[in-house]
Amino acid sequence: MRTLVTGGTGYIGAELVRHLLERGDDVVTFGPSSNPGRIADIAKDIAVVRGNTAYASEVFNVVKDHRIERIFHLGSMLSSPSQADPWASFQVNVVGTVNVLEAARLFDVPQLIFTSTIGTFALGAGTVATDHTIQRPATMYGSGKLYCECLGRFYRSRFGLDYRAVRFPSVVGPGTTQRTVAQYNSWMIEYPALGKPFECFVTRETKGPAMYFKDAVRSLWMLADAPRERIEMLNYNVAGLDPTPMAREVEAAVRAHIPEAVVTYNPDPVIMDYYRTARIETFDDTCARKEWGWLPEYTTIEALVPDFINEVRVNPNRYGL
Ligand SMILES: NC(=O)c1ccc[n+]([C@@H]2O[C@H](COP(=O)([O-])OP(=O)(O)OC[C@H]3O[C@@H](n4cnc5c(N)ncnc54)[C@H](O)[C@@H]3O)[C@@H](O)[C@H]2O)c1
Repeated sequence: MRTLVTGGTGYIGAELVRHLLERGDDVVTFGPSSNPGRIADIAKDIAVVRGNTAYASEVFNVVKDHRIERIFHLGSMLSSPSQADPWASFQVNVVGTVNVLEAARLFDVPQLIFTSTIGTFALGAGTVATDHTIQRPATMYGSGKLYCECLGRFYRSRFGLDYRAVRFPSVVGPGTTQRTVAQYNSWMIEYPALGKPFECFVTRETKGPAMYFKDAVRSLWMLADAPRERIEMLNYNVAGLDPTPMAREVEAAVRAHIPEAVVTYNPDPVIMDYYRTARIETFDDTCARKEWGWLPEYTTIEALVPDFINEVRVNPNRYGL
C-alpha cells in the first residue's frame, strides 16, 4: 500500500512510519523539513518529501506524484504553538487539513485517517468525556481540530471518502520536545531515566488523561484496518491509562525503578490556569472498543514506566535523546 504520513518525521508519526514499513507499505512522509530526524536510520527505505500542508499545490503534488492510496494526516501545530500564533495555526491545521481532504477527493485516495485531540472538549465538559459529550473548545488548536473532525464527516457523506479519526489524550513517550500543558508526564520519566533532574511545572495533585505512545500508534493502524461497515462514530476518543494518575503518582512509579530520581515542583501559573478549567479525568473510549476492538496495552502507570525507561536507555538515538 502506498501510504502518505503527513507529520511522519514527528513524535508519533515516526513510530507509525516504522510500523507501516514493517508491514511492507511504501511510505512517503510530508512535512516542513527534509531532515528525517527520528527516522534517519530508515530514511533510505522511505520517501521524505518537504512541504507545507497550508499550500494546496504542495499537498496535491505529493499525493499525485506518489499515487497515494491511504493518508495518515498527523501534520499539525500542537496546542502551545497554536496559542502563540493562532494565525499560523489556522493555516496549517485548518486550511492544511482542507487541502489534505481535497487531495484525497481529487486524486481518489480511498482512506484518510486524521488525528484529533482531547482539546476539542473544554467548556462545560465534566470529569468524564465520552464521544457524545458536547465539544466546546476555547482554544485555536481545539477549535481547528474540531472543525476538521466535522469536515471529515462531511467528506465521508458527500464524497464517499473513508474518513476516520482518533482523539488522543496527552501522549506519553520519549523524545517529546514541545512544552505543552501535559508534557510533564513524559519528562517526569525521561529526565530521571537520563540521570537528569526534573522540575515539574504542575502541582503534585495535577492529573490529565494520558496514553502511551505505543498505544497511540497502535490505535492509528487498528482504526485504519477496521472493516468499513464497523465505523459509525467516525471520530473516536482513545484512552490509555485508567485511572488517570496524578503527577506525584507518576513520580512514585518512576522512583520504584530509579530511587535516586531528582524531581521538584514549581507550578507554572499559566499552565495551572489551564488545569483549573480542564476537568476531564476519564476519557471514555467505549465506542472505539465496541466498533473496532480498541484495547490499550498500557493501562497503568506502573506498567508504562519500566517500558519507557527501557526505551530511553536502549534506543536513545531513535528518540533523538
Ligand atoms: N502528542 C500529543 O500528546 C498529542 C495529543 C493529541 C493530539 N495529537 C496530534 O497527533 C498528531 C501528531 O503529533 P505529535 O505529537 O507527533 O507532534 P509533533 O510536533 O512531533 O509532530 C507534528 C508533525 O507535523 C509536522 N508539521 C508541522 N507543520 C506542518 C505543516 N505546515 N505541514 C506539514 N507538516 C507539518 C511537523 O514537522 C511534525 O513532524 C498531531 O496532529 C497532533 O495534533 C498529539
